[in-house]
Amino acid sequence: MRAFDYFAPGSTEEACALLGQYAPGARILAGGTDLLIELRRSSVRAFTPIIDICRIEDLCKIKEDGEILSIGPLTTHSEIVRSAKIRKSATLLSRAASTVGSPQIRNLGTIGGNIMNAAACADTVPPLIALGASVKLRSVKQWREVLLQDFFVRPYQTKAGPDELLTEIIVPKLPANARSAFVKLGRRNALSIARLSVAAVLGFDSAGRITEARIVPGAALPVWQRILPAEQLLVGNKPSDGLFRAAGKKVAEVMIQQTGRRWSTEYKEPVIAVLVRRALDQCISPDTTTDRTAMSGDTKPERRPQIFPASSANRLSTIRVTINGKIRIVTVPANRTLLRMLREDLGFTGTKCGCEIGECGACTVLLDGEPVNACLVLAPQVHGRKVETVEGLMMDGQLHPLQESFMDHDAAHCGFCTPGMLMSAKSFIDKHSRADRNEIRSAISGNLCRCTGYIQIVDAIGDVINKETVR
Ligand code: FES
Ligand code: FES
Repeated sequence: MRAFDYFAPGSTEEACALLGQYAPGARILAGGTDLLIELRRSSVRAFTPIIDICRIEDLCKIKEDGEILSIGPLTTHSEIVRSAKIRKSATLLSRAASTVGSPQIRNLGTIGGNIMNAAACADTVPPLIALGASVKLRSVKQWREVLLQDFFVRPYQTKAGPDELLTEIIVPKLPANARSAFVKLGRRNALSIARLSVAAVLGFDSAGRITEARIVPGAALPVWQRILPAEQLLVGNKPSDGLFRAAGKKVAEVMIQQTGRRWSTEYKEPVIAVLVRRALDQCISPDTTTDRTAMSGDTKPERRPQIFPASSANRLSTIRVTINGKIRIVTVPANRTLLRMLREDLGFTGTKCGCEIGECGACTVLLDGEPVNACLVLAPQVHGRKVETVEGLMMDGQLHPLQESFMDHDAAHCGFCTPGMLMSAKSFIDKHSRADRNEIRSAISGNLCRCTGYIQIVDAIGDVINKETVR
C-alpha cells in the first residue's frame, strides 16, 4: 500500500479544517472497505493525506425528529440493519443494508461511504432516493443541503466539493399508508455486488388504490433516478399482476432509451422488468414487514471513545490495543493494515492472509466483538480498541468448544479458512443461544472455504450453539 499522511480528527470542525487545508488531494476514510482497496492500487498518488473521520461521535448517530430520520454518515450497514427506527420508518433501507457484502463488510462499511463512493452498484442509494433523502455537506466556509437525487454527476462522481464533508443524511419517514421493498440481483447471496437492483415505494388510499409510487433502479442507468413514466402508470390504479408487469416493461424501456442497446441489454431488459415486478409484488405481499410495524429495542449505535491524538500527520503511529485480553503498544506506519500488524509485527499468524480485498474472510478477527476483515482495517484505526484472534480462543490449555467441534466434525481440511471461520462463528455464538442452519450459513457467509462444502462447518457450529455448552 502507498505511504500516506494519516490524520484522525476528533470533531467535524477539525475534519473540515483538514479538508480545507489539503483539498483537493485529501481522501476521507469513513469505514475503509473501498478506500483501502483503492490505496493498494498503484494509480493512487503517494502521500495522499488520509483523513480518518471514524472517531467523530457526532457522525455516528441515528436520530428521530418528528417525521424525519437523521442518519450519521458513519453509521455502519450493520447498525442500520439493527436499528428498529430504520426498520420501522425506512424499511427498504434496512433491507438494502442487509444485502451489502458480508457480515464483516457490514460491520466496517458505512452509509456515508456508500453514498460518497457513488459506485453504480451502491446498495443503499436507490432506497434513499426512493425515500426522498437529502444530504448535508459542510466545509469551513458554509453548509448546504442537497437532495440525493440531484447529488450524483456520474458513477464515482458526486457534486460535493473537494473541501466538503458529508455530515448528515436526512430521510423523510415513510407515510403510514406506504409499503416498500428492495430487491437485488447478484451472482450469489453474499459477497456480491448488485448486477441490478430496484427500490420501490407504494402509497395506498383506503380503497386500496395506489396514490403514490416511487421506483428507483440501481446499476441500470448512468445516474440513479426515479422512473416517472412507470410511476405514473401505477398511480390511480389498484395493484394487479398486469399493472406491475407493465410498470416493469416501462422501466426497461426508459433504461434502454438512456443507455442505448449494448451487449448486456439482451439480459438486462427482461431482468430489470422482472425485478420491478418483484419489488412491487413485495410491496403488496402480506409477508412484507409493514413500514409502520411496531418494533421494540432499537439498537443504539455504539462507538467506543477513542483516545488517539486528535490529529497526527506522522507516517508512523504508536497505538495501544488490547489483543486477546493483553494490552500491546505498537509503533507502525500508518499504511499498515491490522492484518499485517498482527502477522508481521506481533506474530499472530493464525489470522490468515488471502485476498486482501475483503472477499475471502481468511483474515477475520473480532474488533470490539464484531467480525471484521483485518485486511480492510488500518492499524491506527484499532487504537484504544479490543481485537480477538484465533490464538485467543484457547483458554487455560483447553480448546474452545468450537475448535473441539470442528475437529469432531472433520470441518477443517486444508485449514486455511478455519481461523476466520472460527472467529465469525465465535461472534455468532456469543450473541445467539439457538440457531438454524440458515442463520449459521448467513453468519459465515463472509468466509469462503474451498475444501469442505460447508456442511461439516455448519454442523460443527450448530452442535455448539444448540447444546448451550459455549463458554
Ligand atoms: Fe482479508 Fe481475504 S478478506 S485476506
Ligand atoms: Fe480448506 Fe476451508 S478447509 S479452505
